[in-house]
Parts: sequence; structure tokens; C-alpha cells
Amino acid sequence: MKVTIIGTGYVGLVTGTCLAEVGNDVLCLDLDAAKIAMLDRGGVPIYEPGLEPLIRKGVEAGRLRFTTDIAAGVAHGTLQFIAVGTPPDEDGSADLQHVLAAARNIGRHMTSHKVVVDKSTVPVGTADKVRAAIADELAKRRADLPFAVVSNPEFLKEGAAVDDFMRPDRIVIGADDDKAIQLMRALYAPFQRNHERLLIMDIRSAELTKYAANAMLATRISFMNELANLAEKLGADIEQVRQGIGSDPRIGYHFLYPGLGYGGSCFPKDVQALQRTAEEQGTPLRVLAAVEDANAAQKKRLVDKIVARFGADLAGRKLAIWGLAFKPNTDDMREAPSREVIDGLRARGATIVAYDPVAMHEAKRVFGAQDGVAFAASPLAALQDADALVIITEWKEFRSPDFDAVKTALKAPVIFDGRNLYDPAFVRAQGFEYFPIGRRNG
Ligand SMILES: NC(=O)c1ccc[n+]([C@@H]2O[C@H](COP(=O)([O-])OP(=O)(O)OC[C@H]3O[C@@H](n4cnc5c(N)ncnc54)[C@H](O)[C@@H]3O)[C@@H](O)[C@H]2O)c1
Repeated sequence: MKVTIIGTGYVGLVTGTCLAEVGNDVLCLDLDAAKIAMLDRGGVPIYEPGLEPLIRKGVEAGRLRFTTDIAAGVAHGTLQFIAVGTPPDEDGSADLQHVLAAARNIGRHMTSHKVVVDKSTVPVGTADKVRAAIADELAKRRADLPFAVVSNPEFLKEGAAVDDFMRPDRIVIGADDDKAIQLMRALYAPFQRNHERLLIMDIRSAELTKYAANAMLATRISFMNELANLAEKLGADIEQVRQGIGSDPRIGYHFLYPGLGYGGSCFPKDVQALQRTAEEQGTPLRVLAAVEDANAAQKKRLVDKIVARFGADLAGRKLAIWGLAFKPNTDDMREAPSREVIDGLRARGATIVAYDPVAMHEAKRVFGAQDGVAFAASPLAALQDADALVIITEWKEFRSPDFDAVKTALKAPVIFDGRNLYDPAFVRAQGFEYFPIGRRNG
């Protein structure tokens, strides 16, 4: 099938690459000329495990190409996937300007039947807006061409995106057009050979499903974070509580890890956008307001613990940070808790030396040439003469460090662990002062 992907970011690039992998003829369009030039040179603008070899394979087979030419993009695919960003507007609602610009471009240039697929995360009712934008452009040029709009929200997780796309839990399709449904069925057939994973529903339900999924996951995180804070006060151990409740199949183990709050490009903006939609309908989601409040407070937890240990004035203190990305296996720093922690520590006068296996180039862009924020070439190098180690992202390589070497490098053996990587009894037996989240004596 001929497929055009509009927006070649985390979602668009993974979608296009995986669709090319199973034999489709894919053209990825982006307005960012630097990004397309990099892809044309064989580079990959994002870090995503397993993606680079698949891109290379698709390109070499001639099934995966990149362009900045809007007309060529519209001409190419019968299926036009819109995978552009939907950042939060000032009031928290999803900013649809890129989605609607992409839709207008389709209306402006199309000369044959198109199925337009909303893959970006968009509020309920957006498919109607996309349809209206295309119809408006067609009317301006007095063209009477058939098209359908489909909602196909994406559930991939950064860091496991290729795997998620190739082996999805479910594929949600919101559509009201039989021909479009048949096309989507055919497109996704290679990804569900084992059993049917397609959930076909009405468009509005599909649009809401994406927000409901992220809101549910964010709720679990905030719930566990608040419970962890309570466990600390009560002298209970959140890790034992986690196992105690996760073993109930109605609850399950996933997404019950306390930490530094959710971040990234999706949860914060999607929770906000859903709340905004709910308020507009006069049906506020009170649970989500609490989820957001708890999350904002949790991002400050580690700074609070550091202040409790070292005092509010951190001038002259040097803190080593392990992990900058909002989660492991990605270089994405959008809404990463590390940003808040570093800003909080800097505001109190501390200097920072940070290490992350893949996100340091992105962190340099985020923090700029700020005084007091330096980057180290290895985890151990970051620790040299630091007052404490502060763990923010749970990369595998931090899970079992050489504690003797850590102790030797640090000025004093103090660890603040925002991800509960270690057994408190074990680390304390090594002579460390250890401050995890919600663990007994933490
Ligand atoms: N990142 C994730 O893990 C994830 C997961 C599921 C859903 N989503 C949703 O998918 C959408 C895209 O997210 P992302 O993280 O891939 O964003 P991104 O910022 O990485 O990529 C978006 C791309 O779209 C391009 N673009 C913007 N306007 C364009 C236009 N008119 N024509 C062509 N290209 C255009 C931008 O230059 C950019 O490269 C968002 O709605 C997001 O909420 C993201």
C-alpha cells in the first residue's frame, strides 16, 4: 500500500518505518528540513532501540523515503497519516494548529481518493475539524473528491516503540466509512497474525480511548507516589506494599512504581487536555485534578529530601545526577523530572554534574550553556568530589554499580534515589546514607 506519514517525529518515524518493514511503500513528510536532510544522509534524529537498522533496511529496499515536499507527500499515499505534534495550548487544551495545517495541505493538493488517518493524540471532535478543513480547501478549488477521516490513536511507548508497533496490544480504529475500515484492516493485518487486535469503534470513542488510557496510567503513578509518601511517614515499605497489591489480578503489577512523578511528551499534556475537554463539557474530572497536583508535588520530592539533609542553602554543594531522560531507553527530555530537580537545586545554589547514556546532547540543548550545569563522560566521572549522588532515571547501567568505586569518588557516601533502584539494607550496609522514595527508614 502507498502510505504517506505527515510528521516524522517519534510517532511518525516509527510508524512509517514499521509500515515499510512489512512491505508498504512509505513516504515520510516533515516541514523540518534539517530532520529530513539528516534522515536522507542515513542519520536518525531520535534515539529509539532497534529503529536505526529498520530505517536502513527500508531505505535500502526503496520502500521508505523522506521528503519536505508537501505536494509530493499528498500525491503519494492513498493513506495519509497525520502524526504531527499536538502540544498544550496556553489553557492546557491540545493545540491543533499542526494537525489542521496538515489537513489543509491534503485538501489543497489531493487529486484522488484519500483516507486521512489521525494518529496524533487529538481531542474528541478533531476528526470533524479535520474533515471540515479538507472539505473547505476542496471547496475553494471547486474540487469534488472523495475522502474519509479515520481515528487511529497511537499507544507506543518511547524506548520500546518499535516493539510496541510491531506487536501491539491493540489497534484502535475509529471510523464510519466501510472502505476506509477495509483499508485499515488490510494495512494492519501483518501486525496481528497471531490473533485479532483490531478494535473498530466510532470515531469519538477512539479519540477518547487514547486520553482515557494515558489518564488511567497517570492516575496509577500519582496514586503510588502519594501512597509512597504516606508509607514513609508510617514506617511502612512501599516496595512491599507494591507487591502486596500488584499480586491482585484486578490491580496487576504494571505502572505501580513510585518515583519522581510522570513526565515526557504525553502524560502531562494529555491529562491536561482531557481535563480541559471535560471542563468544557461541564463534567470536570476531579480525580485528574488530584493526579496533576500530586504529580507536581512529587517532582519536588527529591529536592525536599536533599534540602532536609543539607539545608536550604546549597551554595558550594556539588551534586552528581544519574539520568536526565524522562525515562530509560529514550533521549526525550520533554517534561522530564530531571529538569525540575536540576532547576530546584540550581535555584538553591548547588552546582550539577550530570550523566545520561543517551540524553546528554538533548540536555545540553535544554539547559544551554548555563553556569553550574556540567556533563560527565561516565557515571563515575560525574561523582568526582560530589556531595551526593542523585538518581533520576532508572537506566539499566545504574542498577548494580560498583559501590566501592561510588564511595571513593563521592566526597561523602550519600545517595538520593528517585527510582528506588537499590535494596536499602544492602546500600546502608555498604556505608551509604540512602534516601529512596517510600522505603522504610527512607
Ligand atoms: N511520543 C510518544 O511517545 C507518543 C506516543 C503516542 C502518541 N503520541 C502523539 O503523537 C503525536 C506526535 O508526537 P511525537 O512525539 O511524534 O511528536 P514530535 O514533535 O516528535 O514530531 C512531530 C513532527 O511533526 C512535524 N510537523 C509539524 N507540523 C507539520 C506539518 N504541517 N507537516 C509535516 N510535518 C509537520 C514536526 O516538524 C515534527 O518533526 C502527538 O499528538 C503525540 O501526543 C506520541
